Amino acid sequence: MPRKIIIDTDPGQDDAVAILMALASPEELEVLGIVAVAGNVGLHHNANNARKVVELACRHDVPVYAGCARPMRRALVTAEHVHGDTGLNGPDLPAPTIPLQSQHGVDYIIDTLMRAEAGTITLCTLGPLTNIAMALIKEPRIAERIAEIVMMGGAYFEVGNITPAAEFNIYVDPEAADVVMRCGAPITILPLDVTHQIQSTPDRLAAILNLGNKSGQAVHAMLTFSETFDLQKYGWAGAPLHDPTVIAYLLQPDLFEGRHCNVTIETASELTMGMTVTDYWHVTGKIRNATYMRHGDADGFYRLLTERLARLP
Ligand code: BDR
Ligand code: CA
Repeated sequence: MPRKIIIDTDPGQDDAVAILMALASPEELEVLGIVAVAGNVGLHHNANNARKVVELACRHDVPVYAGCARPMRRALVTAEHVHGDTGLNGPDLPAPTIPLQSQHGVDYIIDTLMRAEAGTITLCTLGPLTNIAMALIKEPRIAERIAEIVMMGGAYFEVGNITPAAEFNIYVDPEAADVVMRCGAPITILPLDVTHQIQSTPDRLAAILNLGNKSGQAVHAMLTFSETFDLQKYGWAGAPLHDPTVIAYLLQPDLFEGRHCNVTIETASELTMGMTVTDYWHVTGKIRNATYMRHGDADGFYRLLTERLARLP
């Protein structure tokens, strides 16, 4: 039986690749719905982009919802400098035809978790954690019903990408991340420490383009656009690829290594706001609330990604 997942996301080129990877894996993953959140760009664009991606995969049956348009307590910080003004610059995708669902994304998350058998739905979070935190606040009983939260977010050994201390998804809504980290559900984190190892080198991108299908071409165009900023910033042979590590973890967990430890979110200091303070060496007695991944097998990851993208139109 495939694992049931809800993808909460701010697409975003790397979010889009993650969504495609999940939609290409129906034997392992049943994508119940996709919920957009404000992050990389504003909510309107992110929801629009999610619908475009679903249509690219010819999965018009997957419902797309819009969640929160801004973080819980702060003004929205966006990343057009990485993702472009639409959030999904690069490929030339047609305007979506499937409707945006009328239900609010937070209510969709609550209703779906409350209706399903407890422990059967996994939340995959690829953006700021606003929707998940708002759902936990509105209906706290969902916490014990979540099978697992698998999130792309945070950084510890590699430090931050939006500030010297913080990773973007956590920085945008640190209060939401704090609510999620304290909720008691099993949490697995794919931080920058992993995603900086998963670099989309020219060879790996060429293999995706050479698949010859529409999805491969679109992914190539997306990543060629979004990597420009990171290639200049880091000076590496390839840009990090973030959000698809969440889906790769669900498909092939042995690609990743980490440990179960305490992760606490900084919400007070302006200097280190949004830092994921990770007790990797267990120097405190604090409750071990997350599995924090530190290493990823890049060759294995790109083999899996390329093989899955080949299955799409
Ligand atoms: C995260 O921030 C976003 O820009 C990416 O989509 C990813 O989710 C990486 O820090
Ligand atoms: Ca994202």
